[in-house]
Amino acid sequence: MDGELGNPCPVTPELLPESAAGELLTLQRAAFLIEARAHHDLDLPPLLETLDQVRAALADPAVTAWGFRDGARIVAAVRVLVRGDVAELGRLVVAPDRQGEGLGTALLLAAEAAAPPVVTGFRLTTGEFSAGPLRLYTRHGYRETRRSPEGEHQLVHLAKVRDAP
Ligand SMILES: CC(C)(COP(=O)(O)OP(=O)(O)OC[C@H]1O[C@@H](n2cnc3c(N)ncnc32)[C@H](O)[C@@H]1OP(=O)(O)O)[C@@H](O)C(=O)NCCC(=O)NCCS
Repeated sequence: MDGELGNPCPVTPELLPESAAGELLTLQRAAFLIEARAHHDLDLPPLLETLDQVRAALADPAVTAWGFRDGARIVAAVRVLVRGDVAELGRLVVAPDRQGEGLGTALLLAAEAAAPPVVTGFRLTTGEFSAGPLRLYTRHGYRETRRSPEGEHQLVHLAKVRDAP
């Protein structure tokens, strides 16, 4: 997808290599602080993830990491793990100073569109107090399937069926 959103920056998603792990970890920690405050929990998994774990995720052949860059800087990222005919999206993040410009929505939709043809459905999770992400996912067709405990709060599991081509 090409075009311009909010600020004048190109919005062509690109594959993020393993060498982007350090920058991704920094972006992820900055972005997920908002969710940590919403849940009164600094131990959210995206905040506890180590550099080695991010590297391992990026090196996993089942995982594709997409991002938007503004110049050299990664301003948004998401990971897609394909298991059979389901793609699990995770770690959708936008740099705090670039949120609300449509980058998160654009990257979510781009990652869905780039999933291999075998994928017939998408899954993701978010925290019960993540009002913004819950609105974003619901608007794009995700529906809650169940909840599971995570620390003192609930993790909301959402899914959607892929539209026929
Ligand atoms: C969630 C996130 C990826 C959305 O990206 P974004 O570029 O800011 O979102 P967009 O500009 O595309 O806005 C899309 C919709 O997201 C929702 N939204 C997402 N985050 C929001 C927030 N913090 N406050 C208010 N609305 C938010 C809104 O519904 C918004 O649409 P609307 O304001 O027009 O109603 C980004 O805010 C982020 O990185 N948040 C912290 C990390 C996180 O929670 N990731 C998702 C974990 S499951």
